Amino acid sequence: MNEVKMNPDSSFDMDHLQATWDSKYEKVLRSGRTLVGERWLAGWLHLVPPMGCRRALDMGCGSGQNTRLLLDRGFEVTAIDISERALELCKRMAPEARVQRADVREGLPFAGDCFELIVADLSLHYFPWDMTDAIFKDLASQLVPGGLFAGRFNSARDADYGAGTGEPVRGDSNLLIVDGIEKRFFTRECFHKLFGPPWKMVALGEKTTSRFGSKKMLWEVAATKCDANSAEPGPARDGESGGELYPSVD
Ligand SMILES: C[S@@+](CC[C@H](N)C(=O)[O-])C[C@H]1O[C@@H](n2cnc3c(N)ncnc32)[C@H](O)[C@@H]1O
Repeated sequence: MNEVKMNPDSSFDMDHLQATWDSKYEKVLRSGRTLVGERWLAGWLHLVPPMGCRRALDMGCGSGQNTRLLLDRGFEVTAIDISERALELCKRMAPEARVQRADVREGLPFAGDCFELIVADLSLHYFPWDMTDAIFKDLASQLVPGGLFAGRFNSARDADYGAGTGEPVRGDSNLLIVDGIEKRFFTRECFHKLFGPPWKMVALGEKTTSRFGSKKMLWEVAATKCDANSAEPGPARDGESGGELYPSVD
């Protein structure tokens, strides 16, 4: 277990986030609906090091669409989420996955250097900056050298989903209360701060999706973890041609 520093000033008790997400997913469970995913992740999988092992961690897996996609692409997947209700949905969508309740604020419950791929799809933007930074250090420690991180994050221009509204939390103008929870909105500079050594950022692009109804603006990020003794990603990777490098802003 790697300890991630809590923010002692947090105005929210630690169960609030879980209760909020349990209640959202409970509604989905009761409705019998299946949430729809997107194929964004498929475009980055060629950057996963070809080491034989294909172990993936889906952080904040929700109802499991990315977990399903990774299983279908031959990964052995561990899916974690703070919400027990989300994990119920994930088990239905991806019964072959190892599904585990975990709160990323408490540190990832793994030994380190144990995944070739870590995915976080719209799940790491709920935290104060110091905690966000600590979570990124923690997840880097769980990747093998040369391993890939692929994630999506709220954009600071995501006006339809709360960007630019509400009071900044503890003076942080990118952390706002939206629908009762703290939500972080990222600028390009945030990623340059988060992806210093040992990361090599492969791609960073601001994109849009209509997955949730109205247009949502988000950042899509792909980065590899460099070998400790070199500035370059460790093992050779299988052709980098398929990915979109530093895609332009929509
Ligand atoms: C917007 S949903 C995205 C879910 C999924 N990745 C997807 O794209 O469909 C955010 C997810 O992050 C999870 N989450 C929020 N805070 C978390 C935490 N501290 N630890 C683990 N999971 C968390 C929520 O329960 C929720 O499933």
